Amino acid sequence: MTQPGDRPYDIVGVGFGPANLALAVALEEHNARAAPADRLSAVFVERQPRFGWHRGMLIEGATMQVSFLKDLVTLRDPASGFTFLSYLKEKGRLVDFINHKTFFPTRVEFHDYLSWAAARVGHFVRYGTEAVSAAPVEDGVDGVDGEGGVTGFAVTVRDASGAESVLRARDLVIGGGLRPSLPEGVEASERVWHNRDLLTRLAEYDGPPPARWTVIGAGQSAAEVADHLHRAYPDAEVCAIFARYGYSPADDSPFANRIFDPAAVDDFHGAPEEVKERLLDYHRGTNYSVVDLDLIEELYRRSYQEKVRGRERLRILNACRVLEVRERPGGVRTTYEFLPTGERHELDSGVVICATGYRPYDVLGLLGPAAGLCERDERGRVRVERDYRIRTVPGVRAGIYLQGGTEHTHGITSSLLSNGAVRAGEILGSLLAARRAGPPAPRSAAEARELAVG
Ligand code: FDA
Ligand code: NAP
Repeated sequence: MTQPGDRPYDIVGVGFGPANLALAVALEEHNARAAPADRLSAVFVERQPRFGWHRGMLIEGATMQVSFLKDLVTLRDPASGFTFLSYLKEKGRLVDFINHKTFFPTRVEFHDYLSWAAARVGHFVRYGTEAVSAAPVEDGVDGVDGEGGVTGFAVTVRDASGAESVLRARDLVIGGGLRPSLPEGVEASERVWHNRDLLTRLAEYDGPPPARWTVIGAGQSAAEVADHLHRAYPDAEVCAIFARYGYSPADDSPFANRIFDPAAVDDFHGAPEEVKERLLDYHRGTNYSVVDLDLIEELYRRSYQEKVRGRERLRILNACRVLEVRERPGGVRTTYEFLPTGERHELDSGVVICATGYRPYDVLGLLGPAAGLCERDERGRVRVERDYRIRTVPGVRAGIYLQGGTEHTHGITSSLLSNGAVRAGEILGSLLAARRAGPPAPRSAAEARELAVG
């Protein structure tokens, strides 16, 4: 499908989470001030039936892990009408929020902010539509111009009824987010869930609630799930199983936090491979397998108080490796090993929640026939230029941009909100420059910054 006049879209975006939402906001602002000939047309396809940001984890009271100033737009343009502060002003809560004296709103409030912004750029989005694959369009086939090579993509999409159609675009921007990861050999089922689906599965749960819940993992998700279940089911036992000795605090100290700065992306992208790996290793603790210190202390306080009272509902099974999770009639049996002794134990519970993290989006899988255009490194990962454009084989004049899935090239902010506003400006700058200059050359850090919109 094309736009009126049978022209392909300038951009087809895959996924409409915060990353592509930030780009839609940048586009909206650009189109509002650009001459008609310089405006870009875009459509974003989103699998969900309406906007949603990790709805299954919108746990009451859970707060953001990032300052509200790292919203969709502030770091790109603090004067934009799409800032979190503009949202507060429109909702009549600006003064109340200031009195709250926090940089970290609840996830529920930030979700409302994102939904507010998404509604304002809703004309770009098709909800309930999944991108299935992308095929290259050769010059002469789509008749865009006469210079040869791949000049665009035909993206096959499927709507909620299962009907397929094709969207054509010059450039693709893939922002599909992360995929839930389960321990090897474990499959999601009626009683084995990934935490991504927590609230949805709880809402659907039939029958009396389990007398025991098991939560696997020691990251922010695992701690929030254990906390939520412990509060929501005051008669139930909650067993937290993980390999660490204890939940470990997220490093949100100010110098370490600079790893999330826009400038850190320049440093990272230009660094040799071994330096990249070292930096990721040093600073894993800012994001992975770590928990907000306040929540750790709250869980400890509760666990200690239960010891005092003599009824321990929150049970921490630390230094334990999960060996097997097997569904059986009426429940799930988890077999685990206490690492210091190698002793094996079995634990029966009504439901097991695997809060065992996420894997990157399968970009090459989505690209399907277009995957062969992408250059790879020696480990099979796509090579990505500083402007988030996948490096492609000669003759490809259309762009595939990544929002996410670039931790190996751009660093730890790849899957996070921190750099979303700036990244959207950089991608838009690159898209516009490509239109002005014809086939784009690989961008250096300095060029990408210079081109950035905002
Ligand atoms: P995101 O996953 O949000 O969106 C991707 C979208 O693409 C989804 O809506 C999906 O349905 C859609 N999609 C995927 N494939 C598709 C296809 N083929 N066709 C159509 N649509 C498709 N980070 C941070 O910096 N601060 C924070 O406070 C938090 N908090 C937080 C809480 C929880 C519970 C989680 C799980 C994660 C966070 N994160 C975070 C990290 C998180 O990755 C980040 O907040 C954003 O969700 C990243 O936005 P994206 O748009 O990249 O992915
Ligand atoms: P995570 O940080 O990757 O943690 C995954 C946990 O699962 C780790 O403890 C890991 O063990 C464990 N694990 C992984 N594979 C396992 C296996 N096979 N067997 C047993 N345990 C296994 O994932 P997350 O907690 O979901 O966090 C992901 C992102 O979402 C982070 O950016 C986080 O900040 C964000 N998040 C934010 C909020 C919020 O904003 N309030 C809430 C939830 C999540 P190890 O400890 O051994 O590594």
